[in-house]
Amino acid sequence: MKRLFIIGAGPGGLEHLSPAAQAAIAASSELVGHGLFLNLLGELKAGKTLHKPPMGEEITRARLALDLAAGGHTTSLISSGDAGIYGMATVVFELLDRQPQPEWSAVDIEVIPGISAVQATAARVGAPLANDFCVISLSDLLTPWETIERRVRAAAQGDFVIAFYNAVSKHRDWQLQQARDILLQYRSADTPAIVAFNVTRKGEDITLTHLGELDPKAMNMLTLVVVGNSVTRRVGNWIYTPRGYEKRLS
Ligand SMILES: C[S@@+](CC[C@H](N)C(=O)[O-])C[C@H]1O[C@@H](n2cnc3c(N)ncnc32)[C@H](O)[C@@H]1O
Repeated sequence: MKRLFIIGAGPGGLEHLSPAAQAAIAASSELVGHGLFLNLLGELKAGKTLHKPPMGEEITRARLALDLAAGGHTTSLISSGDAGIYGMATVVFELLDRQPQPEWSAVDIEVIPGISAVQATAARVGAPLANDFCVISLSDLLTPWETIERRVRAAAQGDFVIAFYNAVSKHRDWQLQQARDILLQYRSADTPAIVAFNVTRKGEDITLTHLGELDPKAMNMLTLVVVGNSVTRRVGNWIYTPRGYEKRLS
């Protein structure tokens, strides 16, 4: 069988890589992914052929993975977190949709879920996502800023807890400031916020802060930002969003 696994490798720490993902990697002879994510696989990559097109080469990576699988090599295409959340799965399906190659139709594809950065971050600090939440990427490389801004405003109006992926990069920091200023029109400056860097990886750093204090200068492309809704609270070193149990606690 010609097989392609699209793997969500989790936030980084191998203890968060699912047994299904480990089995798929073990069954593959070829691993395709960004070098950083392949390195995080540690011993699991031993004996495999590694293919590491550089960051920004997502289409090359997806095409290569399909070609390798179509050529009879069982292949794992590795994404961090969950492959379906700003990850590689959609690139594969977009290629199959818009540029289908006859040989790709024989490939059996399986998408294996992973723990996304937002889940890993939430677990580290308590339960900030316990009520309705959304994720928004602040990268305007593929999505126009007007669309992102509209979504941020809608999420603010809907009082969602919001996780910002791709909040900041080396050449991009104004988006987080603008998102913060939009949120401040709807939420108080002391709304709990979380700045999470390299979660579950070496150098992990998580700061509990407030919406009004979010500062992109202290962040980079390995940072995830979570902003609570109007009722998100801090208890000691934990942050949680109530679901309404207080009515039953009295
Ligand atoms: C292209 S997205 C990939 C998201 C990934 N597929 C997931 O589900 O977590 C990259 C962004 O995810 C966030 N991210 C991914 N892994 C992270 C981690 N271990 N710690 C903090 N943020 C992370 C950062 O915001 C980063 O800019």
